[in-house]
Amino acid sequence: MRHRVAMASPLYSLPGAPAPETAAPATVPAAAPPRTIGEVLAQSQAGAVIDELDAALVGLAPVKARIRDIAALLVVDRLRLAIGLEAQTPSLHMCFTGNPGTGKTTVAMRIAEILHRLGYVRKGHLVAVTRDDLVGQYIGHTAPKTKEVLKKAMGGVLFIDEAYYLYRPENERDYGQEAIEILLQVMENQRDDLVVILAGYRERMEAFFRSNPGMRSRIAHHIDFPDYEPGDLLRIASLMLEAQHYRLDDGARAAFEEYLARRIRQPHFANARSVRNALDRARLRQASRLFAEPDRAWTAADLTTITAADIRASRVFADPPPAG
Ligand SMILES: Nc1ncnc2c1ncn2[C@@H]1O[C@H](COP(=O)(O)OP(=O)(O)OP(=O)(O)O)[C@@H](O)[C@H]1O
Ligand SMILES: [Mg+2]
Repeated sequence: MRHRVAMASPLYSLPGAPAPETAAPATVPAAAPPRTIGEVLAQSQAGAVIDELDAALVGLAPVKARIRDIAALLVVDRLRLAIGLEAQTPSLHMCFTGNPGTGKTTVAMRIAEILHRLGYVRKGHLVAVTRDDLVGQYIGHTAPKTKEVLKKAMGGVLFIDEAYYLYRPENERDYGQEAIEILLQVMENQRDDLVVILAGYRERMEAFFRSNPGMRSRIAHHIDFPDYEPGDLLRIASLMLEAQHYRLDDGARAAFEEYLARRIRQPHFANARSVRNALDRARLRQASRLFAEPDRAWTAADLTTITAADIRASRVFADPPPAG
């Protein structure tokens, strides 16, 4: 089981999202109602976020396609509204299943921003929680805890990681049930201003839904996050390094490919998260390597390049090579 830090506070405030209370200055003429999909996307700037999601995230083709579909529905709703057609608020609660490090939290943050830009939620922040943030230890503690979290998340996305821990069938009097019931109510009644995303391993989530049909019926979108292929992981590594002004030289690239082939077979492999951790350690080793020669004037290339030695010093290479 993984342990996480409880995170009930709005973790991510998204750049570019205007504060909800800022009214437009009175002198600016109101934008004409949008007439085309392109106009809706341009006015809302949701198109830019979707393109950025495409560019910034490696792989995840089915996930990206689903997000485009959801955005399309919301954009068409806006067009219908602009010509006076009533549109029922669609249910946007989602379930993200997949192994650790497959991008669930990252995608949830982007979705929060897209929903905000399309005017679906007021603020577009993401509040990430686990069971401990919602469920109390003693009688009477759960309802206030859950309600407090819901209050913080209102106007944005509530992301419940490993949501199945809310339900403990082995314990008849588990307070998790109380949290689930409050969630169900709010998911139904306030769905125009709060999107709930449940996340976790697929099999456990399935079992959770079997025992909680009310929850299943409120989730409109089930999105599966596949494990990354080694090629995807390598591209993710390049993107992460680029963002920090580092690069792998040719030897390091080959070493990292080998590293991944070994690491994938080891316990606790966590997809892109393991890549991030491996690169963090490689940067430490690079720094120590440069540190060892205090009198040398390092060039920009030296300071930005990770070499094969920085990768191969990993513990992962100490084990026997993978069979086959
Ligand atoms: N497709 C991707 N392209 C680029 N970076 C990615 C991709 N997927 C994940 N990452 C990066 O990998 C790290 C882990 O991703 P994230 O936290 O979203 O995964 P997760 O599925 O929520 O994992 P966990 O279940 O462990 O919480 C983040 O730093 C994220 O930016
Ligand atoms: Mg996560």
